[in-house]
Amino acid sequence: MVCQIIVKMAKAKCHKCAEKCGKGKVPHDVLLKLDRAFKDFQKTDSKSLLKKYLTQEIFDKIKTKKTSFGSTLLDCVQSGFENPDSGIGIYAADPETYTIFEDIFNPIIEDYHVGFKKFSKHPTTDWGSIKDVGNVDPKGEFVVSTRVRCCRSLEGFPFNPCLTQNQYTEIESKMTNALSSLKGNLKGNYYPLTGMTKDIQQKLIDDHFLFKEGDRFLQSANACRFWPTGRGIFHNEDKTFLVWINEEDHVRIISLQKGGDLGQVYQRFVSAVTEIENKVTFMKNDRLGYLTFCPTNLGTTIRASVHIKVPKLAKDMAKLNELAEKYHLQVRGTRGEHSEAEDGIYDISNKRRLGLTEYEVIKEMYDGIVEIIKLEKGKT
Ligand code: ADP
Ligand code: ARG
Repeated sequence: MVCQIIVKMAKAKCHKCAEKCGKGKVPHDVLLKLDRAFKDFQKTDSKSLLKKYLTQEIFDKIKTKKTSFGSTLLDCVQSGFENPDSGIGIYAADPETYTIFEDIFNPIIEDYHVGFKKFSKHPTTDWGSIKDVGNVDPKGEFVVSTRVRCCRSLEGFPFNPCLTQNQYTEIESKMTNALSSLKGNLKGNYYPLTGMTKDIQQKLIDDHFLFKEGDRFLQSANACRFWPTGRGIFHNEDKTFLVWINEEDHVRIISLQKGGDLGQVYQRFVSAVTEIENKVTFMKNDRLGYLTFCPTNLGTTIRASVHIKVPKLAKDMAKLNELAEKYHLQVRGTRGEHSEAEDGIYDISNKRRLGLTEYEVIKEMYDGIVEIIKLEKGKT
């Protein structure tokens, strides 16, 4: 409910109250900060999509807008402003920002997800013919491990920058409650970050099971408040099924195993997501599919990746990246995003997640990886 007295006051002079009820003006100090930060940002040689699309005209058009959660343009772009080495540079401070600030989100979404236009609509969920998904590397020559993950946001909660400390623990308990009833190979335990020893936490990170801590892109986006409250990981005994709670998104559901059997990984992934979705309701949007904190993770929200060794192709990284782009793939380092390759291991995954079905995402990744392996084999 929007308080009408506060709205009236806000229109007259009081920005603080206006912030609370979501109507009224963007506070003067925020506008000043935005103007100053935008000017500085314009002088950088950032290669981010934010830099590419946030023109003076768009900036002036949207800088005075505000969502009913009180989020301003600054809440969305401050990570990109503070980190000019961002690839994207913008986060959805709350679910409404995708529409209130559509003039900047839409071109970035269209660029990242290749041609998903303002009037495009994400297709309905289609897991496809799961049993037809195969092994990308049947002889086990190149692929170290395979992983499929998706992101989910709980209906009724905003995103990180707007979450209260209580909401973090509420999300955590809703999720652990749902996860505790999983059976068979999905049965597992929840390990909260609060109380976890640094050694155990680091080992889980090093073994690629747990999210890292202190991501500067998330920190500048106000996405790490009250850390480690409400954060944690659920996993089965083999650590082939994992769920991250309250890191970048409310929930990340992960299926992971050694080798290149994408079919098995995908099968486990689909059954886990289906089971979980029977127990909790996630936020979904008619146009953008599953809503998440980062515009790169909309739609299916799926990132299917292999850890792969392609030493011949990797001799020329520019070429490998070019090749990846051709197949709509993305190359990351061994420890994920913003990391370098260790022991020649690269993380190669599908890049776009919006505008195509779950099955099409998996197929795109499968076809691309098979092609990359073929090229590696053929190289002298
Ligand atoms: P996300 O995949 O959730 O977007 P990151 O890129 O940070 O986030 O990766 C998270 C973790 O998952 C990192 O430790 C990364 O090494 C690991 N990872 C990604 N793909 C694979 C894979 N195919 N095999 C093993 N670990 C993987
Ligand atoms: N904000 C960071 C950047 O622009 C990350 C973007 C995509 N990755 C993510 N984890 N959401 O480089």
